[in-house]
Amino acid sequence: MIRVVGLRKNFGSRMVLQGVDLTVESGETMVVIGGSGCGKSTLLKCVIGLVRPNSGLIEVDGADVTRLHDEVEIADYRRKFGYCFQEGALFDSLSVWENVTFGLKYLTDVPEGRYRAIAQEKLELVGLREVEELRPAQLSGGMKKRVALARAIAAEPQYILYDEPTTGLDPIMSDIISDLILDLKEKLGVTSIAVTHDMRSAYKIGDRIAMLHDGKVLGVASPKEIKTTTNPYIRQFVEGVSQGPIQMKLRDYD
Ligand SMILES: Nc1ncnc2c1ncn2[C@@H]1O[C@H](COP(=O)(O)OP(=O)(O)OP(=O)(O)O)[C@@H](O)[C@H]1O
Ligand SMILES: [Mg+2]
Repeated sequence: MIRVVGLRKNFGSRMVLQGVDLTVESGETMVVIGGSGCGKSTLLKCVIGLVRPNSGLIEVDGADVTRLHDEVEIADYRRKFGYCFQEGALFDSLSVWENVTFGLKYLTDVPEGRYRAIAQEKLELVGLREVEELRPAQLSGGMKKRVALARAIAAEPQYILYDEPTTGLDPIMSDIISDLILDLKEKLGVTSIAVTHDMRSAYKIGDRIAMLHDGKVLGVASPKEIKTTTNPYIRQFVEGVSQGPIQMKLRDYD
C-alpha cells in the first residue's frame, strides 16, 4: 500500500505539489489525471525517491520514504518499483534488449545468461518481436514506449508507476497496453499508479481515478463515478474543453 500525506514540493519559487493526500490500496491501480504541468510526474518521482519533497509523508509498506537517506536503503526501496518514464528514457547506445534488462544487475540476482531470454519474454508481452538487437534510434515513438514498459516490468516489481504509458500510441495499441496493465495487476497482483491523459485507458485500467489540480488531489472516485460526476473541474477535464473553472494558459509566462 502507498500512502501519501500532505506532500509538498517546490522547485525554487514554483510551488508544484501543495499538500497532496492519496492512498493506493494493495493490488489497486490508481489513475492520476490533471492538467499539463500540474505535477503528476513530480508526484511519481517523489514516490520512487527520485525527487525529494519539501515536506509530507510517503509511506510504502509502512516505511516513510522521505526519511530514507542512506543510498543502500534507497536502492533497496527502489527495488520494489518498476518505473515507466514519460519520455521513455532509453539509453541510445544500448540495444533494445540491453535497455530492457538494464536494471536487473542492480535489482535482482538473476544470472546474466538469462537476460536476453527475459528481454524477449517481456518484449513479447508488450507486443514486440525481433527488435532485441535494434537501437532506440531505429524504433518508432510507440515502439520506444513499449520498450520502456518492458523495462519497467523486467524485474517483476511489486509496484509499477506508469507515466503516460499510452501517450503517442495508436488507439488499438493503446488498448492493448491498457489490457497488459490490467493483466499485470491481475496475474502478478501489482499495485500501480498510472498517470494518463488518455481517458479511455483511465476508465479501463483505473480502480479509482484521482484528479490533481492546484497542487492537491481534488477528488478520488471510481471510473463510473467520474463519468457521471457533476464536479465542474473534473467534468471540464474529462470532457477536454477549454472553457470552465480550470484556467489553463497557452503561454507559461502569462
Ligand atoms: N527538476 C525540476 N526542476 C525545476 N522544475 C521542475 C522540475 N521538474 C518539474 N518541474 C516543474 O514542475 C512543474 C510540474 O512538472 P511535472 O513534470 O510534474 O508536470 P506533469 O503534470 O507531469 O505535466 P505533463 O502532463 O505535461 O507531463 C512544471 O512547472 C515543471 O516545470
Ligand atoms: Mg508528466
